[in-house]
Amino acid sequence: MSNSSSNQNVPVPDFVPVDVAAQAKTQAPIPGIPQDIDSTLTSNAIFLVVSMTEVLGAADTIRDVLSDFSGLIKTVHFRNLDGALYCTVGIGARVWDDIMQCEKPRELAPFQQIAGQTHIAISTPGDLLFHIRANRPDLCFEFEKILLDKLGDAVKVEDEVSGFRYFDERDLLGFVDGTANPIGPHLPQATLVGDEDPAGKGGAYIVVQKYEHNLKRWGHQSVEKQEEVIGRTKVDNIELPDAAHGQKSHKTLNTINEAGEEFDILRDNMPFGSAADEVFGTYFIGYARYYWVIQKMLERMYIGDPPGLHDQILDFSTPRTGTTFFAPSATALEQLGD
Ligand code: HEM
Repeated sequence: MSNSSSNQNVPVPDFVPVDVAAQAKTQAPIPGIPQDIDSTLTSNAIFLVVSMTEVLGAADTIRDVLSDFSGLIKTVHFRNLDGALYCTVGIGARVWDDIMQCEKPRELAPFQQIAGQTHIAISTPGDLLFHIRANRPDLCFEFEKILLDKLGDAVKVEDEVSGFRYFDERDLLGFVDGTANPIGPHLPQATLVGDEDPAGKGGAYIVVQKYEHNLKRWGHQSVEKQEEVIGRTKVDNIELPDAAHGQKSHKTLNTINEAGEEFDILRDNMPFGSAADEVFGTYFIGYARYYWVIQKMLERMYIGDPPGLHDQILDFSTPRTGTTFFAPSATALEQLGD
């Protein structure tokens, strides 16, 4: 290895200097490392939807925060490692170009309202989603506080919901919610965009809908009727057979088969509400590799299959929001700082 020959007094190092260029290469982010979409279920979550404001430099502020997003998570996570803090960020179609400054994932578009004969899946504003999860509410709170402080006037809060895990992973309708989620190798297969779309590789489409339930009406239904609506038994969560014809259950309407293959999504729904205000809700969040899969589920729920026979869960549950995002890979977020 070369050493300065002009100064004979400089000691020759007895180690082999590393090839810095090669090391820099190995330090470069591995393309397409996803965000923590597949983190284990936590006992608490905050669903925060914000819009980008017109303030000068708003996109730059957001880019700056997102480029060190994993660092920001660590800052709070490290204060209580058992608390298992995760946060996924999703970016909407309206601001994708300003923030990401690269090609849009090919199915990313604003949430389109779906109007069935009886119920409407409304579309509501939102440019960024923060899905904050932890096993302690204070971790979620602390992270959200620091995050909003950093984002400042670059964003305006559209909706904020604090969710909690209810007995046996049940929703407020009393049913175990999340059972059919993909696990193991099926999880990345169902949630992460692959080679089919280089612009979205390692990322996932996200749809959120905040539902409020009419628990009084639901409570007046017999347990048999409720089970028919959901497609599983209430106490022990056993799957019921699909109806051969006529009205289909929620479970059947959301089973998507195309060309002999079943297409899944990942859901991390959370109950929320206030007994005092008589608000009882389910915050629906779905992650998917293909947007058309969620779209098809929503069409089958709202329009019905056959059309007219909508998902009866909607007779007891009203969506107050509906927004679409894309969670880019963690690598793509890091590169915003380059
Ligand atoms: C009011 C809001 C909702 C509630 C309370 C709810 C509740 C449930 C429950 C209890 C199950 C059965 C257990 C399970 O596998 O998780 C289920 C299944 C499912 N839900 Fe929902 N859900 C809601 C909205 C939605 C929406 C909006 C979608 C899709 C856009 C959806 C997609 C699914 C899927 C894919 C399944 C699994 C179907 C299968 O067995 O393969 N859900 N949901």
